[in-house]
Amino acid sequence: MGRLERCHDIEDLRRLALRRLPFPVREFLEGGSDDEWTLAENRRAFQRYVLMPRALGSVKEIELGTRVLGQSVAWPVLLAPTGASRLYHRDGERAVARAASRTGTAYALSTYSSFPLEEVAREATTARIFQLFTSIGLDRSLELVDRAQRAGYDALCLTVDTTAPPNKLRDQRSGLETGRLSARSIASLVAHPGWLLGLARGGPPRLANLEVGVREAQALQWLEAQRLDWSVAERIRDRWEGPFALKGLFRAEDACRAAEIGVDALILSNHGGRQLDSVPAPIDLVAETVATVGERLEVLVDSGFRRGTDVVKALALGARGVLVGRPYLYGLAAGGEAGVVRAIEILKQELVRDLRLLGVGRVDALEPGCVRRAPGQE
Ligand SMILES: Cc1cc2nc3c(=O)[nH]c(=O)nc-3n(C[C@H](O)[C@H](O)[C@H](O)COP(=O)(O)O)c2cc1C
Repeated sequence: MGRLERCHDIEDLRRLALRRLPFPVREFLEGGSDDEWTLAENRRAFQRYVLMPRALGSVKEIELGTRVLGQSVAWPVLLAPTGASRLYHRDGERAVARAASRTGTAYALSTYSSFPLEEVAREATTARIFQLFTSIGLDRSLELVDRAQRAGYDALCLTVDTTAPPNKLRDQRSGLETGRLSARSIASLVAHPGWLLGLARGGPPRLANLEVGVREAQALQWLEAQRLDWSVAERIRDRWEGPFALKGLFRAEDACRAAEIGVDALILSNHGGRQLDSVPAPIDLVAETVATVGERLEVLVDSGFRRGTDVVKALALGARGVLVGRPYLYGLAAGGEAGVVRAIEILKQELVRDLRLLGVGRVDALEPGCVRRAPGQE
């Protein structure tokens, strides 16, 4: 049995991945902002819901297929956008796109990918989503939108929760944020020659979609991000021909406004606890958002999903689909494309088993009666 097969859940995969990564990269991947309250809350929140199985339903086949953002997917879990994936494996986003295609799911490629969006698009045969940051100014963002359209992306997602740099203390302490690595970070790099070699083979890390270096992009990012408002979102919506999503909204009134400007889907997300600390876990916003705008747009959700039962809870509360970030990055770090496939397999097997135990044969048959607040949490 290989190392990946010996990983029985996402936590096993996480442990394998973290052993392979040097300290500053580990910290970057795992970390949240400030006190990491939101990061922890993302996991705690699932404990506030319990599942209510149907008895004697005679479930034979399990049907996981659904439609998300106008695309057919083999199952309702998508791969969230994560920047600079070459930090975890030399094949980075290319490996993730191939794994998504092999397993029939959609992958949202980040603006900050380490391979150009055109190159990654060629690796994917399933639904392709491009995630946009407007960090390089509106004109250049619109150029990126056009490039994504020409490259054949099926949907566009604009991330709206990154209007200021997060206070990520782990990255400050490791020195990753400033580029002046701490002694512990340097010692850990030296102790991970395989990782260094993998990175060196592809040349220095770069933001392949932007013609600026990492530091310049960072400086621009926070300047331009402050200018992101509803009129910018509308300009981008109008430019993009196809399904359009906003990622990182919290309030029902913002969800309504999104529907008014022609947004097709919302991704409820707190960026995996990496932006504003003290915001709620998105799973707690699903029911309210679906009740408010569910007739007009699709509601997707991410942050903290690690188990099949987490996915079941979100879908039962009314979400159309779920995205995962770190779980597939653990797979990528642990074993490249095969590792990402393993992460997906683990979650898929859990989901199939959970549906069977719940007495529900199709993901689109999950309904609010399948879930309720845990005792004491009503
Ligand atoms: C290392 C890392 C990099 C990320 N980069 C991006 C990004 O470039 N664009 C974006 O919209 N979200 C980004 N995110 C947030 C993810 O899209 C997603 O919201 C989050 O990972 C979900 O939480 P989870 O990691 O608990 O699954 C990133 C997350 C991580 C962990």
